[in-house]
Amino acid sequence: MNSHTFLAKTIHWTFSILYAYGIFKQVDDLDELKDPALLNFEILFALIFLVIVMLRFLYMKDVKTLLGSHYEIHKGHLFIAKATHWLIYFSLIMLPTTGLLIAGIFNLNIPGMRIAIGLHEFSAFLSYITIGIHVVASLYSRLKGEGVWNAMVPIWQESKKNESKIVSTLETIEKKIYDQIEERLIK
Ligand code: HEM
Ligand code: HEM
Repeated sequence: MNSHTFLAKTIHWTFSILYAYGIFKQVDDLDELKDPALLNFEILFALIFLVIVMLRFLYMKDVKTLLGSHYEIHKGHLFIAKATHWLIYFSLIMLPTTGLLIAGIFNLNIPGMRIAIGLHEFSAFLSYITIGIHVVASLYSRLKGEGVWNAMVPIWQESKKNESKIVSTLETIEKKIYDQIEERLIK
């Protein structure tokens, strides 16, 4: 049974906590940045966040996607899983980068703040959407019991493939969607 390494799992779950912290403690408006302690803390947090995302990306980029699957993975499925992971990384790099851009514009008192905030808000929005899809897809895979969940999530482990009628109906629909993706986007 294939599983992600202990290091990959540790990075995935400690980073999830860091992301949740970053989202909850977010700056509510520009005026808050007048407090130098808060501004410095935000800059330090964004730098640490950025370095960890980059290191994680470098470590994970050559690791097989959906590596825990007990079954051969449809090319169309692999394509959307990889695309979602890439978009997650893109949003996670954009978040601290545009945050640092806001800090730079604020300190230097130069124009462009509205654009920087727009990009920052877009990055946050993209991260909610892509991570939301990621979590729902993981739960769906857990329902099917195909092994992907067990390779990354240490709790509520699957024991066997779900053979129920509803799951096999969903899998038939899924296969048609993957065929379309392969036909239109990969070939
Ligand atoms: C309840 C929450 C979550 C669950 C159940 C979950 C589940 C999983 C699973 C099963 C995998 C393995 C997929 C594979 O083998 O290809 C995975 C990988 C991944 N997850 Fe999550 N995840 C969660 C939260 C998050 C969060 C919050 C983030 C981003 C901040 C995230 C980002 C990623 C990325 C980028 C990968 C690809 C492998 C890597 O680069 O580490 N996940 N996740
Ligand atoms: C990893 C680092 C960061 C994360 C995860 C993060 C996250 C967020 C989120 C989720 C929002 C709310 C966006 C929305 O309304 O949709 C926000 C807003 C904001 N952030 Fe960040 N941020 C980070 C770094 C920074 C930095 C370094 C600064 C500047 C010093 C900054 C300044 C702001 C400001 C001014 C807003 C309010 C924008 C507004 O007026 O609507 N952020 N941030």
